[in-house]
Amino acid sequence: MVSARPVTVQPMGELPDSYPLPGLPEHVTIYEVGPRDGLQAETRLVDTATKIEFIRRLRTTGLTTIEATSFVSPTWVPQLADATEVLSGIGAPEGFRHPVLVPNQRGMDRALEAGATEIAIFVSATETFAQKNLATTVDGAIETAGSVARQASEAGIPVRGYVSMCFGDPWEGRVPLGRVVDVVRRLADLGCRTISLGDTIGVATPGHVRALLDALGNAGIAMDRLALHLHDTYGQALAGVLEGLRCGITEFDAAAGGLGGCPFAKSATGNLATEDLVWMLTGLGVETGVDLDALVQISGWMAEQLGRPSPSRVVKALYRESAPDPLF
Ligand code: HMG
Ligand code: MG
Repeated sequence: MVSARPVTVQPMGELPDSYPLPGLPEHVTIYEVGPRDGLQAETRLVDTATKIEFIRRLRTTGLTTIEATSFVSPTWVPQLADATEVLSGIGAPEGFRHPVLVPNQRGMDRALEAGATEIAIFVSATETFAQKNLATTVDGAIETAGSVARQASEAGIPVRGYVSMCFGDPWEGRVPLGRVVDVVRRLADLGCRTISLGDTIGVATPGHVRALLDALGNAGIAMDRLALHLHDTYGQALAGVLEGLRCGITEFDAAAGGLGGCPFAKSATGNLATEDLVWMLTGLGVETGVDLDALVQISGWMAEQLGRPSPSRVVKALYRESAPDPLF
């Protein structure tokens, strides 16, 4: 017989209690990529005003570094064809950084005209993805990125570097650590302040994260020049972040609401959700400066604009109660 006794559920607050682990940093930077990496994979066009509103709202959460858009070919990524309008529409309030992705000289010209003050160049650790994503070779991509980076340095514009397919490639399979180290070193030599290690298809496991960071450390790359850019395809992203923290990484890329993917990589799904990252870091007592509740509301709002629920576990847990539509 089933007992009729009511089950009492312990109500949770909107933040986990803090139980720090030894050896972790006190503070990390979250590099928000939702408006760029998140939206680039959306096939239904999001209007420019919504993109601007998304970034304006994100600025109210304590996030200070928000990648705004991409000056890539609009034929390749129609969703971000309005890069100029988005960048000028969000303005440049003090205290915020809005880097933009630049693939080549044409992109750099457009970004400068639109008033970009910070850029990110991107290359691949694998030949197949260099072709699929940039229509060139690894060497060709680094050469183009190099001339863009030199121009940016002359203009006093900070440059971030991304390396895609650092952990696995859907066409080539396993990516040797040495190949990633080589590409990261070349971006470091180009003067990139930070180099973000992209797990474009989300296959990294925590031991793999450590192995790559050890290999980079042994090659003389300081951990404070690296960031982790983990996609959550196989649910491993937070485990990778924890291992990254243990190795001394203090910058992590994430997308509000877990938006995203890469239109040019089979099986790339959403980025690590910023909310999931903030939840774990808060529980670990690592400061992010981000107001989780405010962020959840914004990602819930954005999910409604896109017409489907957010894949973020934290957004699912916390937004549901306040959502006007039962779908969310
Ligand atoms: P291509 O077809 O070889 O370009 O593509 P092209 O140089 O032959 O030019 C063809 C036409 O595109 C020309 O116009 C150019 O002017 C124009 P036409 O003469 O035919 O009228 N064009 C441009 N227009 C506007 N802005 C530009 C631009 N460049 C050329 N910048 C290209 C080469 C690099 C352009 C193309 O491959 C491209 O845009 N790729 C970007 C793809 C992309 O955005 N991928 C997603 C971002 S990377 C990512 O998500 C990974 C990351 O998140 C980390 C991770 O997860 O791993 C960063
Ligand atoms: Mg990405």
